This record gives sequence, C-alpha cells and structure tokens, in this order.
Amino acid sequence: MASTNGAAQVLVASNRGPVSYTVGEDGSLDAKRGGGGLVSGLSAIGSDADALWVCSALSDGDREAVRRGVGEGGVRMLDIPADVHADAYNGVANSVLWFVHHMLYQTPLEPVFDAEFRRQWTSYERYNRAFAEALAEEAAQGATVVVQDYHLTLVPGMLRELRPDLRIGHFSHTPWAPPEYFRMLPDDVAGQVLRGMLGADRLGFLTRRWADAFVECAERFAGGVGGTRIGVHGLGADADFLRQRSHEKDVEERMAALREEIGEGRRTIVRVDRTELSKNIVRGLLAYRQLLDDHPEWRERVVHVAFAYPSRQDLAVYREYTAEVQRVSEEINAEYGTPGWTPVVLNLKDDFARSLAAYRLADVALVNPIRDGMNLVAKEVPVVSDAGCALVLSREAGAHEELGEDAITVNPYDVTGTAAALHEALSMGPEERAERAKRLAAAATALPPAQWFLDQLDALRAER
Ligand code: G6P
Repeated sequence: MASTNGAAQVLVASNRGPVSYTVGEDGSLDAKRGGGGLVSGLSAIGSDADALWVCSALSDGDREAVRRGVGEGGVRMLDIPADVHADAYNGVANSVLWFVHHMLYQTPLEPVFDAEFRRQWTSYERYNRAFAEALAEEAAQGATVVVQDYHLTLVPGMLRELRPDLRIGHFSHTPWAPPEYFRMLPDDVAGQVLRGMLGADRLGFLTRRWADAFVECAERFAGGVGGTRIGVHGLGADADFLRQRSHEKDVEERMAALREEIGEGRRTIVRVDRTELSKNIVRGLLAYRQLLDDHPEWRERVVHVAFAYPSRQDLAVYREYTAEVQRVSEEINAEYGTPGWTPVVLNLKDDFARSLAAYRLADVALVNPIRDGMNLVAKEVPVVSDAGCALVLSREAGAHEELGEDAITVNPYDVTGTAAALHEALSMGPEERAERAKRLAAAATALPPAQWFLDQLDALRAER
C-alpha cells in the first residue's frame, strides 16, 4: 500500500491515519477522509509526492486495503496483528499513558501494574517497532519525520538507531503530567517512554505548561533532555475552512432542525465533545442543573445543546461514562422539562455538520475539561458562532493559555462556580459578547493547522 520505496522526504506517523476504508456489499473499498487538526495541517504538504503518512490499519476495511495493496497515495497503513494492536492501543496507550498524561487516575483503585500490564507493554514495544521499521524503510536520506502522540513514544529512539541520518520530531497532543504524577509509572517504563521520546531532535507540545512538565520529568527521571530541543506550537483553528464549511447547505438544514428543537427565542448553551473521560460532561450537566435551580428566571428561556460523540467504546469505563451522560441528561429533562421545553438536547451520534450548526447558534459555549492538551472546540466556536458567543472555559484546557483573557474561566471541578459562570455568560450584553468573541476568534486562529505543521518542519530542519 502506497510504499515510496525509500523516497519520502517528509513523513508523519500516527496511530490513526487520515483515511479509513469500508468494504461495500459488492466487495468494493470505499475510502473516507477524516477530519481534525492534523489532517488539515498535513494538507499543506498533502499533494507533495515526497510526503508519506504512516498509520495503523484500524478497521476490517483498512486491513483489506492493505491485503489488496490498494489505497490512497501518500498513506501507508501497517497491518499490525489485532491482539498486539489491542494491547498497545487499548491496554497501554488509552488505559495507562492517556490517564497519566491527563492526571486522571482514580486512586486507590487504579492503576495496577501487574503481569497483564507487562504483557501489554511488550505489545506496545512491538507496535512501536513496527512503525520505526516502516519509517526507516520509507524515509529518503536525511528526510524529516514527525511522530505523533503517546501511542508512539518509543519510535523516535528506535528510529534514531535504525536511521541516524534522519531529522526526527515528536509531537504530544495531550497534556504532560508533572513528575509527582508521572512517577506513578514503573521506573523502567517511565525511563523507556522518556528516553524513547528524547531520541528525537525536537519535541513539540501544545502549551508551555505541558512542555515544562516534560522537561521536569526528563530532568528527574532521565538525566535531562540532552541535545533534544523543546518547542511549543499551539495548534489553532482553521478559520477559512470553518467559515466556508459552516455556510454549506447541510449545515443550514441542520440549523433549521435544531432551531425547532430549541424553540423560539431561547438562549443556547452549546457543548461538543468526544465522550472522553477528561471532557467533564457530567459536571457540565450538573452545573446547568444548578443554574436552573439558582436562577429559575432561566427556566424555559435556555436550552443546553450537548453533543457527546462516542469514543473508545472498547473500554468499559468509556461505555459507562457515556451511559452516565445519558442518565443525567434524562434526569434533568424529567425534573425540569415542561410540555413546550426540553432543557437538555443531547446527541450521541457523530455529525460534523450538526456540530457546526450548533456552533453557529451558540450564545454560550461550555468547554470545561478536567484537563485537555488544547481543546479545539474552544477555538472553533468563537470563529463560527453567528452572533459571537460567550465562552465558559476551564483553566485546565491548554487553550486557556491563549484564550483566558476573553473567556469566563472556571475550575472544572467546581460545579457551583461553573453554574455562576453560565449565568454570567448568559447575562452578558450583546456588544460585549461580540467584542470578546472577535478577540477570541483572532487568538484562536493565530496558528492555523497548515502553519502549525510547517513551523515544526522548519524548526526541525533548522536545528540539525
Ligand atoms: C485524544 C487525545 C489526542 C489523541 C486522540 C486519539 O483526543 O487528546 O491526543 O490523539 O485522543 O484518539 P483516538 O480516537 O484515535 O483514540
């Protein structure tokens, strides 16, 4: 599948790639391109024949595409054995590293580093090695490679050994935990993760806070960062794309449908998330309920539009979390709803056009994660909202470093404080709201995805 036979000048490696395949009933393969910052960032080099994206085959369709040796140019999918991938992705990356980076373990029950974890760790090493070997095979002499995220922390070190001629970067899309939390990992595992990443010439983070935490961990547990450079690149929203896409017909249709559901003359509090445990959707709902309690004047006059799209449903805690979001929404609707008013409009089915429709209608955006590397929703809503929305933003989102001044800041654990912030946002005068939204949109789009990616390439090339 789309091998360059050692001719690629720019390579990206990530678990999830830019395209996925499904097998149709007639056996044909259908390709669907994904969204997200990385995909649009890469479109900057996408048509370049020397660029290659190496990713995992994730679906049956993907594996079929690999087997048939077909697929889109510029993408090479690795068909890693399903059990190895499940251990590495579900076991190590999503059940351990993701929790450590987001500082989200619920001690004393978790984590448990036992023989089962050790077995999964071996799979994680194998999975990382498969990436390193594929990259070594595809990269031209002196090529530039950018490895993405916590799934692939060992790749830079492995690749450095195989191909000392390459310029290697790694970018973390998550937070990074300070040493007191990171040290929860077994010493040898922590050391492997840090040394693996430090095999890169340059490490990128979304904010200064996460970069500093990494450096502290490296100093405490790996003898420092050595010759590796550390950079901060705050991925921004893609204004041109969003403004154009959010005015297309399918979005307009969904706006009309949403307006019906919301009802005439009501304010709208919007949230859009993947249902990840870090997103804090339940406390957001509880804050909305408290708003209705503390300020009964908002009853019948506001609707909370909450889109919570499924994520990582292979993991039981994620399934339970989704069920909890549903349960609390239903409770609020049962408790406060009236024949003409549904207080919470919850939607669990992923629909990008409908998300944009909600952005356009938003009076208030609620972005209250417990921890988030950046959070692009916080950056997208002010760009798209028609009337300029107020932003209630967690101080624990990376985006807060750039948007804090014009947002209404909340402590994500403080439900009472979040309810008060919602009230403040709803009460803000239209002029102030619009002015703030303008400044938010400017800050949010300062580093669009294509520039974000090109900056990293430039820095990598300059530093060696
Ligand atoms: C979260 C993390 C990202 C990560 C992504 C992977 O959003 O913040 O850093 O890349 O999940 O999602 P996936 O659906 O591929 O597990």
